[in-house]
Amino acid sequence: MTEALCWLNGVLMPAAQARLPVLDHGLLYGDGVFEGIRFYNGRAFRLSRHLERLRRSAAAIRLTLPGDAGSFDAAVHDTIAAYGRPEGYLRLIVTRGAGKLGLDPGSCGEPNLIIIADELALVSEAVRNEGARVIVAATRRLGADGLDPRIKSLNYLNHILARLEAVNAGADEAILLNAAGHVTEGTADNVFLVRHGKLLTPPASDGALEGVTREVILELAQELGIERVETTLGPYDLHTADECFLTGTGAELIPVREVDGRPLAVCPGPVFSVLLAAFRRQVNRETAAPQLVARRQ
Ligand SMILES: Cc1ncc(COP(=O)(O)O)c(C=O)c1O
Repeated sequence: MTEALCWLNGVLMPAAQARLPVLDHGLLYGDGVFEGIRFYNGRAFRLSRHLERLRRSAAAIRLTLPGDAGSFDAAVHDTIAAYGRPEGYLRLIVTRGAGKLGLDPGSCGEPNLIIIADELALVSEAVRNEGARVIVAATRRLGADGLDPRIKSLNYLNHILARLEAVNAGADEAILLNAAGHVTEGTADNVFLVRHGKLLTPPASDGALEGVTREVILELAQELGIERVETTLGPYDLHTADECFLTGTGAELIPVREVDGRPLAVCPGPVFSVLLAAFRRQVNRETAAPQLVARRQ
């Protein structure tokens, strides 16, 4: 097993040795933003989309990112190179920085920029192959009038409460509804359903993070001629779906076999399997080193 590595404000070190001040408002108040990024074949997948979202999240909380786009790119590349394995997961975090006790971000100095490289397996191989059991959590997703779900902030407590509900129920993951009772997403993943061969997912405006993997799946579905519909969904739609699956950088694609104790018609289903194969091909296409074309003599 490769040791987790950390790039902290420009210095690479084993993650176990990385230290932050206890007065960092990221720790005190969850004041900061982050991204989870996977790398394959030694290259970050859809890095520009992740960095765009990071920039938007930071702008939304009035956090000035240290450095420019190029310096983030370089830091990510250096971290992957130093980690030394072709595949893994990066957690890129920007905290408000160390300040005084009290919420005012104005007391904070420079933000801290952290990139952790490690392995991440959200579920076991068995769950990945046979499907996850999910529940609809009683804990609701915060709405845009509380904390806009498009901000990928360090505040995950209501997702953690939902995940605890899943653990208590002996399930693998929880789906959160919004205040109106509509499906939003999983605790760290977006949700898709298949009904009569159509791919359905809630619009991000119902309260989900605008997932990078979600976007890839919607693109691939279009290329494959699978009809895709972004529409408001309720627990009934989950309970009666032909197929259901979760997508995310950590999750990649996880099929769902049971929702609230109701087994789904098929798992892994045919639409899921086609999309999973297409996802793998796409990842390879975007991250594998360009093939040297043999020159004809
Ligand atoms: C709440 C939430 N929803 C969805 C996702 C999936 O987004 P992405 O595919 O960009 O990783 C994540 C990923 O971390 C998440 O935390």
